[in-house]
Amino acid sequence: MVSNSILITGASSGIGAALARVYAGQGRRLFLWGRDNARLETVAAACRARGAYVETRCFDIVDFSALIQELDGLDSKNPLDLVFFNAGLGGSLPQDRAGQDPHTAEKMAGVNFTAPAIGANLMAERMAKRGAGQIVLVGSVAASFPLPMAPLYSGSKAGLAMFAEALGLRLKRHGVFVTLVSPGFIDTPMSQSLTEPRPFLITADHAAAIIARKVARHARRVVIPWQFAMILAVSKCVPRVVMRAVLAAF
Ligand SMILES: NC(=O)c1ccc[n+]([C@@H]2O[C@H](COP(=O)([O-])OP(=O)(O)OC[C@H]3O[C@@H](n4cnc5c(N)ncnc54)[C@H](OP(=O)(O)O)[C@@H]3O)[C@@H](O)[C@H]2O)c1
Repeated sequence: MVSNSILITGASSGIGAALARVYAGQGRRLFLWGRDNARLETVAAACRARGAYVETRCFDIVDFSALIQELDGLDSKNPLDLVFFNAGLGGSLPQDRAGQDPHTAEKMAGVNFTAPAIGANLMAERMAKRGAGQIVLVGSVAASFPLPMAPLYSGSKAGLAMFAEALGLRLKRHGVFVTLVSPGFIDTPMSQSLTEPRPFLITADHAAAIIARKVARHARRVVIPWQFAMILAVSKCVPRVVMRAVLAAF
């Protein structure tokens, strides 16, 4: 199936902006969501220059009523073939803190888990009725490790990973595909804010090209770059007690 009508959340920056540019072309209808209007319009202009029809919306995705209203309204007017729930909020714990402050905790859990879960459930119902569609959830390799420097980030992405797998199984019988994307380090503002090293770093454009190719094949899981797929495979052979002992040092 050719995906003509595509929604990308978090399209004003990084991976989302790169995905928008990859999908932009004649006959494509792109719906780009973000918060920063100026950056989102710059991305939209680049996509229009490639021939795509583009609409943008700026709102905070943790305003869940707005999210439901926007998604319902958009899909009623333009039935979506492909939806990327990509918006995400990174952040390690400051050295001098044992836990995130409640406001940051609420926001991070909301952006990384609750918003995509609400949105994907809503799209699951709509796409299942049409018997077609694809939902892409952007998680992280951090979902596979209990990271003491970022418990909420790794925890929220772990929840998303399990949700993606379960939803994929549920939607198979309805002809709807679910893809979980698990990036390692991608060179975007999110990873640029890290103080730690970023091994196997790739650009957002490179990441988006790989994601689009695998999404077209309805891949269930996309781990990028490939070195992290190897690391995840090897880590499954490491006893949990060893992994915990290593991570406890951080
Ligand atoms: N970069 C990496 O190394 C890496 C690694 C693993 C996973 N990921 C995942 O990849 C996805 C994209 O991240 P990125 O690296 O491209 O990060 P980014 O450059 O920081 O972009 C994040 C995007 O999410 C949007 N967003 C954040 N909070 C939002 C909110 N409350 N409401 C609406 N939109 C919101 C931002 O919108 P505004 O900028 O307009 O506010 C922006 O468009 C995320 O889910 C992230 O967790 C990235």
